[in-house]
Amino acid sequence: MAAPKENPLMEKIVSLCKRRGFIFQSSEIYGGINGFWDYGPLGAELKKNIRDCWWNDMVRRRDDVVGLESSIIMHPKVWEASGHVGGFTDPMVDCKTSKQRFRADQIFFSPVVVDGKTVDYVSVLESERVAEELQEKAETLKRKKAIQGKLEAVQPRDFTEARPEEIPLVPSPATGEPGSLMPPRAFNMMFETYVGALRDESAIAYLRPETAQGMFVDFKAILDTGRVRIPFGIAQIGKSFRNEITPRNFTFRSREFEQMEMEYFISDLDDWEKWHRHWIDWCRDWLVSIGVPASHLSEYNHPREKLAFYSKGTTDIMFRYPFGEQELWGIAARGDYDLSQHAKVSGTPMIYFDEATKRRYVPHVIEPAVGVDRIALAILCSAYNEDQAPDEKGNLETRVVMRFHPRIAPVKVAVFPLLKNKPDLVQKAKEVRDLLRLHMTTFYDEAGAIGRRYRRQDEAGTPFGVTIDFDTLGEKPELKDTVTLRDRDTMKQDRVMISDLLPLLLERIR
Ligand code: GAP
Repeated sequence: MAAPKENPLMEKIVSLCKRRGFIFQSSEIYGGINGFWDYGPLGAELKKNIRDCWWNDMVRRRDDVVGLESSIIMHPKVWEASGHVGGFTDPMVDCKTSKQRFRADQIFFSPVVVDGKTVDYVSVLESERVAEELQEKAETLKRKKAIQGKLEAVQPRDFTEARPEEIPLVPSPATGEPGSLMPPRAFNMMFETYVGALRDESAIAYLRPETAQGMFVDFKAILDTGRVRIPFGIAQIGKSFRNEITPRNFTFRSREFEQMEMEYFISDLDDWEKWHRHWIDWCRDWLVSIGVPASHLSEYNHPREKLAFYSKGTTDIMFRYPFGEQELWGIAARGDYDLSQHAKVSGTPMIYFDEATKRRYVPHVIEPAVGVDRIALAILCSAYNEDQAPDEKGNLETRVVMRFHPRIAPVKVAVFPLLKNKPDLVQKAKEVRDLLRLHMTTFYDEAGAIGRRYRRQDEAGTPFGVTIDFDTLGEKPELKDTVTLRDRDTMKQDRVMISDLLPLLLERIR
């Protein structure tokens, strides 16, 4: 698996994901395929819970947002109008010697300057420590080449900023030698396919690189249903595909991933900054409501000069992953660009008629766009925890525990008979499991010592454990029909009546 190198925490998380059935490399028995991932039994539940929470909070519990499921393959003109055919590119660099391919903005380099003179160049791949790594390389180079004089501090630039005369001097990150990196060229990230029996230009179509265009293309159709009035939103969850040059950091940058996007249409005269702020706050609060620690979140405002010409402002909610602070959720104010483009290219006006003011206009849009896989990864990274817990003999051992918020935990409750060779205990445990599983995901486990079973569920992140013991069956008459309810985080066990169990758990997992 592609675990980021030299990141012990990330390696532990990737290994747990594989061992416990959260995430596997796609097609692993054939050696895997880079940038594609499969979610195993626990991962599939985790993702479903993230999607369900978002859909409930974003669509079902609001009056002003409606849902949509548009097709993955759309008319190719959609992507011409949106600008993706012409401009959805990343700058790519080939290394002639190693045949490896890099994203130009992920190669960082610096001249090595001694006593004011450039003596060589050093390069590294993007990381948390670009400047430090470049400085270390520059010092090593000066020492190895026995160059006398004062080494100046490195000045990191990415390869898109390399001047033509510098390109042959920058060492390839693959070989460490200069002379093999090609000048950056634009690489379109859309996956192409053919629709129908013919395989010629006229049959080319694209796997969508974002779900957003579905909302713009169907804007008129949804408006005509008569259910919506501005301001209102259209939300969609679905797969998107990007032929990323360098998929990396586990599932963070994948070639197939899932997005949850919402286009919120407002009046052209409305205060877009107010709505932009509203949705940034909404997204942040929502992340916290599913257990993403607020302390790991920050905001990054894209500088004005780097915004697309139509964009009024974009703010990313960043998450502190073990491999660095990275974009989790982008909230963009896109003006009327998308609707106007589709009106122009399709010839269908995308006009809203305001009954109250009798005014016609093209609405503006605020777009919160997030990847389900990036949320899942943020949750896995922040839930991972190691603490000390007593084993069967009372000795302290390291316990791996996934502290998922009960709302999104893959399994809500595990049910255990104390012993598997006592039919009465087993039968009662299965009755309790059947009572609960109509309402929540449960896991029944009778294999091995009870302490081991608790540990397995701690690793799976199951917040509650219910044990059926001899007191449940009435060994102590005053405890008949009670069970122990164990809390994953405190490891405390309470005795609870079976009849109270369901309402109590429903309350806690809400
Ligand atoms: N419609 C706007 C749009 O797609 P984006 O910033 O390109 O904007 C939105 O993508 C979100 O989708 C990102 O913030 C990220 O969470 C997720 N995302 C984008 N590319 C991804 C990839 N290659 N792998 C996983 N998630 C990705």
